[in-house]
Amino acid sequence: MIASILPTYSRAPLTFVSGEGSWLTEADGRRFLDLGAGIAVNALGHANPELVDALTTQAQSVWHLSNLYNIPAQQKLADALVDKTFADTVFFTNSGTEACELAVKMARKYWFDKGQPERTDIITFSGSFHGRSSAGIAAAGSEKMTKGFGPLLPGFVHLEFGDLMGLTDALGDTTAAVMIEPVQGEGGIRPVPDADLKAMRELCDANGALLIFDEVQCGMGRTGKLFAHEWAGVTPDIMMVAKGIGGGFPLGAVLATEEAASGMTAGTHGSTYGGNPLACAVGAKVMEIIADDAFLAEVNRKAGLLRQKLEGLVSSHPDVFESVRGSGLMLGLKCKAVNTDVVQAGYAQGVLTVPAADNVIRLLPPLNITDEDITVAVELLDAAAAQM
Ligand SMILES: Cc1ncc(COP(=O)(O)O)c(C=O)c1O
Repeated sequence: MIASILPTYSRAPLTFVSGEGSWLTEADGRRFLDLGAGIAVNALGHANPELVDALTTQAQSVWHLSNLYNIPAQQKLADALVDKTFADTVFFTNSGTEACELAVKMARKYWFDKGQPERTDIITFSGSFHGRSSAGIAAAGSEKMTKGFGPLLPGFVHLEFGDLMGLTDALGDTTAAVMIEPVQGEGGIRPVPDADLKAMRELCDANGALLIFDEVQCGMGRTGKLFAHEWAGVTPDIMMVAKGIGGGFPLGAVLATEEAASGMTAGTHGSTYGGNPLACAVGAKVMEIIADDAFLAEVNRKAGLLRQKLEGLVSSHPDVFESVRGSGLMLGLKCKAVNTDVVQAGYAQGVLTVPAADNVIRLLPPLNITDEDITVAVELLDAAAAQM
């Protein structure tokens, strides 16, 4: 008999009933150090008092307002995002997948309105992940995600990760946009080199194609800059954001330049819940905390500390781990052992990590993890590796 929850997830036998900071607790009191943070969602930890306050204060005034009306919390968050980024305008969604949907629509509408409706192709890269909608799986293109779900949304051109020569050849007069994660998350914590992002910007400019960055996982302070592309000193035309921006409350966004967004006039897109008062009240507080130089400096300091300790862990367990990679607090341990076995061994020691492709385990702790918890994290991972 089918389970009452559609069985699309293979879940660990763990049931958390509460959380505080970087820790989650089961009903029997057993505590786990959460280095997954809901896969980069709980950017400011569990039950963060400032976020609880933002949410409950909003909840006491108004929960939902249709986008038929002005929503002050939405305006506040949009203004903060425009102020701190390349973007001139923002559309709010409830998830990263919905952000992907709009990014694709926006790029195609841009060219339609420019009188070049044949420019519909979106170029993407192997190992990418852009969500599970029809556009999201067609964008990623992997057999694992698309098999059985055809006919797929047409108009995606798939290149190998890092294939700049291929990109040069693929950009043509039917290209609408290039879509890329500056640091691949699901693909195994694979940062795109700064030089490649710069080259992509130049290639897109030469061709006219729009450049879309998917910062759903790597954005919102995760790499030690507000957005990961800032390290490379280039900006996109369109950017997808989600996960960390809501700190655990469902929220996503598409950020764009005025030019890239020019086709998205009244009536061309919408969402019942996107940008609702509760999500935006939390999002505005998350932005206030994360988009702060002192906070980001701390993320970088902690990232250095964690990375240094992880290098030591890899040297101590050469049979289990191969290397550390990633950026900021978006780190991956490439494993020699089977990555899911390492994750399981972590559960037994009370530490949560997340598997990714390429036999990697992901470490995406809350950005405000304490130094003590970083030390405990590596001790628990060390115990897990020893147990293997
Ligand atoms: C880079 C990237 N894009 C898009 C998505 C989809 O986001 P969501 O699961 O919020 O729909 C994810 C989710 O893991 C992601 O990592």
